[in-house]
Amino acid sequence: MMRRPLDPLMKLQFNLTARLFAAVLSTAMAVALAMGVFSHLNLSRNFIGYLNEQAVNRLELARTSVTAGYREHGRSWDFLIERPELWGRLLRPLVPEAEMGAVKFGPADLTGATRRFTLFNEDRERIAGYAGPSERAVERPIIVDGLTVGWLTLTPIESVSPGAEKHFYDAQLRSGWIVGAAAVLLAGGVAFWATRRLLRPVRRVAEATHRLAAGDFQVRVPETEGDDDIARLSRDFNQLALTLHRNEAMRREFMADVSHELRTPLGVLNGELEALEDGLRRLDAQALRSLRGEVGILHKLVDDLHELSLADVGALAYRKAAVDLRELVGIAAGAFKERLHGSGLTLRLDLPTDPVMVFGDERRLRQLMGNLIENSCRYTDAGGALQISVQRQGRQAVIDVQDTAPGVDAEHLPRLFERFYRVEPSRSRRSGGSGLGLSICQRIAEAHEGRIDALASPMGGLWLRLVLPIHD
Ligand SMILES: Nc1ncnc2c1ncn2[C@@H]1O[C@H](COP(=O)(O)OP(=O)(O)OP(=O)(O)O)[C@@H](O)[C@H]1O
Ligand SMILES: [Mg+2]
Repeated sequence: MMRRPLDPLMKLQFNLTARLFAAVLSTAMAVALAMGVFSHLNLSRNFIGYLNEQAVNRLELARTSVTAGYREHGRSWDFLIERPELWGRLLRPLVPEAEMGAVKFGPADLTGATRRFTLFNEDRERIAGYAGPSERAVERPIIVDGLTVGWLTLTPIESVSPGAEKHFYDAQLRSGWIVGAAAVLLAGGVAFWATRRLLRPVRRVAEATHRLAAGDFQVRVPETEGDDDIARLSRDFNQLALTLHRNEAMRREFMADVSHELRTPLGVLNGELEALEDGLRRLDAQALRSLRGEVGILHKLVDDLHELSLADVGALAYRKAAVDLRELVGIAAGAFKERLHGSGLTLRLDLPTDPVMVFGDERRLRQLMGNLIENSCRYTDAGGALQISVQRQGRQAVIDVQDTAPGVDAEHLPRLFERFYRVEPSRSRRSGGSGLGLSICQRIAEAHEGRIDALASPMGGLWLRLVLPIHD
């Protein structure tokens, strides 16, 4: 049963491992390749440069011995033309002329530079040495008694010999294979380890999600520190679980509230009907009025619930147009003249001289004002007052509805907009209230991009402030 959600996860792990493997492998291979190319370039550039530098040093040495040879053989190059084998001996460094021919040799010339030396006379005719000197040859004059009697040149190496190159490439290929194999192993290891490590928390969330889907809203995953995606995933999951938990609790509470609210007027209705049936009460006009009153309460409750549920699914229709709040509030207050009088309240209306325009649904806004004034009629002691003011504050329209005692304690103020919330359930019920009026007001305010807040009024009662955006 727990296995089902894990199968896609195994697939995910496999996919991730494969991708990570490819990524690490290609990185390692690219690095190995770059190193190969780089060391090859290095060899052909720097190593050849090094050989040439050595050769130039040798050239300086050879110049000394060639100059000495010239001087000792009658200040002429003829000796080299007659006996070309002397050229080779002449180039052996650090060997004085006297010892030439003896078995003593100078240090071996490993760079083979002397083979690329060429000797020219003062007229640039070749006397001895390398027969194919290049244009780029390095040359040094042979000076005897202040006169240039010839030139010694060195033809530089331009590339490594094919044999050396092949040897080098073979070595490189061998180490390439070794590096490649090591890279494959490394990539495999890193990919496997990393995906396992990365997926552990994901796996935990997947398991928890499965339990959450099965209705276990208590489930939570351990949250890791940090701000990476995985930590955020765990945090978001826990937030999701918490929200679902809360919503579920609210749903149950709401169902309990609704059934309780419906049960009370139905119970009263049933009791009255039974009394009529048993003949304990006579079916007269007064009994009928009482029955209708109970039915009326039920009717209003069901209407309010319907409206709230429509607002919740976002289906409450609003037909908006430019509305003048000054006029609207005046009309709404006027409609309550009788009611206010009946409750023993005096009304103070404070309206501005200019219209205050908002973009809204006139019917809904009047319903909102009606709910507020109705509340004041119900929950304000006789002899008190109700004050309504409309004003424009910058880009906002502000409507204040305040009344006299009794007020609402500060701790209840923010909760007034909850469904079925009543400060004094008994008093509210007696006056036919079910605690939905202000929730509906809040929905209407929000649907107009506005807000409604409850405060304690300096007049001693409740102060409700509605703020809506101005529409010009
Ligand atoms: N002007 C007021 N003065 C004092 N208390 C108030 C006032 N308006 C509202 N209340 C308190 O706030 C509670 C919630 O008001 P609300 O309008 O949401 O519900 P209701 O009036 O009880 O029922 P309904 O409006 O659904 O018929 C009331 O039950 C009452 O206790
Ligand atoms: Mg009300």
